[in-house]
Amino acid sequence: MTTQQCGIEADSIQLSIELGQRSYPITICNKTFDTRVLAHVLQKRKALIVTNETVAPLYLEQLTSALPSMDYSVCVLPDGEQYKNVQYWQMIIDQLAEQRINRSDVLIALGGGVVCDMTGFAAASWMRGVDVIQVPTTLLAQVDASVGGKTGINHAAGKNLIGAFHQPKAVIINTSTIDTLPSREFAAGMAESIKYGFINQPAFIEWIRQKQNLLASKDPNALTQMIAQCCQFKAEVVAADEKEQGMRALLNLGHTFGHAIETISGYNKYLHGEAVAIGMVMAAALSEHLKLAQVGLLEQMESILQAFDLPVRIPSEYQPSELVKLMRLDKKVVDRKHRLILMRGVGQAEIVEDVDETAIVEAIEKCVE
Ligand SMILES: NC(=O)c1ccc[n+]([C@@H]2O[C@H](COP(=O)([O-])OP(=O)(O)OC[C@H]3O[C@@H](n4cnc5c(N)ncnc54)[C@H](O)[C@@H]3O)[C@@H](O)[C@H]2O)c1
Ligand SMILES: [Zn+2]
Repeated sequence: MTTQQCGIEADSIQLSIELGQRSYPITICNKTFDTRVLAHVLQKRKALIVTNETVAPLYLEQLTSALPSMDYSVCVLPDGEQYKNVQYWQMIIDQLAEQRINRSDVLIALGGGVVCDMTGFAAASWMRGVDVIQVPTTLLAQVDASVGGKTGINHAAGKNLIGAFHQPKAVIINTSTIDTLPSREFAAGMAESIKYGFINQPAFIEWIRQKQNLLASKDPNALTQMIAQCCQFKAEVVAADEKEQGMRALLNLGHTFGHAIETISGYNKYLHGEAVAIGMVMAAALSEHLKLAQVGLLEQMESILQAFDLPVRIPSEYQPSELVKLMRLDKKVVDRKHRLILMRGVGQAEIVEDVDETAIVEAIEKCVE
């Protein structure tokens, strides 16, 4: 067992990511930022809190009032994936320099995946690595981006091309932050949560189906349980393969298709989680088409995603052959043979080498509106 649930205290769930000396706790609470685990991490340290202009007015005060008494300053970034670049990374770095933050101090990321990734990368690069605490406020960041230590920023040549593996010292999740999240952002986070079930947790898909109405109405207990489950699933994968040399690649289910969909639509039609939802449908269609999975997988994938108002088809203006061309850029493709994450069934994802482009095009054709 690589992960453990350390216990449920009152209304907080404690998990831990087991990475030897770099192990760290994840605290999940559905009422407040439960920062009790930080007492020793933050003792006598200065902090730079990085957030953005949307999240700061909503949650900055709530977070700072939950922190132990300490010296901190705040860096407020503009809101948007388009600012996840070297210019705004530099803005964080300039503030670290101004505040004379050193290796005995700490960065705190308060926001969605963009803030988590940028702050994590600033922490990884400043003075060759200072501590970072992740406080994710979107569902997607709570179930995925804040856990596992991947940090980075975008470059004109592509997404997340500049980055580092840098594990946080702790992750503090307050699931009530989901209350203010726009509904499309919520659904995007649901897509990444559902992803874990199709990778290797079939019982989780059943659980989501049973709790579908509670989850869709953002019932605090159901959401907290779901987020804790997802963190635990990701923790197990990360503990087994921290630097993505093997099974961590399974977490990319739907992503090669999804990135091509994001690119073909100019990065402004679909949220990342929405593109991943369609991408997972395409992966299911291809798994059936190659007879890797029995007929029925595609229908199961579509129905659970649609239950959360996620898209499952691409419009007919996007040519399947064009999508496949874009997929060639995403991963190492030799002689038009693709390496993809496909499924033998619900909860049975695997890496499949040498997938032929003709089969991919035929499967995508089944996913056009
Ligand atoms: N490091 C990883 O392992 C990893 C994994 C998945 C995704 N990511 C990255 O995460 C990013 C996407 O993250 P995201 O989906 O959280 O997007 P995001 O950070 O852009 O957040 C989405 C929107 O919600 C707003 N917001 C955040 N919290 C809110 C709240 N509680 N209430 C109201 N609005 C709120 C944000 O300001 C933003 O406008 C991408 O850059 C992606 O590459 C990283
Ligand atoms: Zn993703």
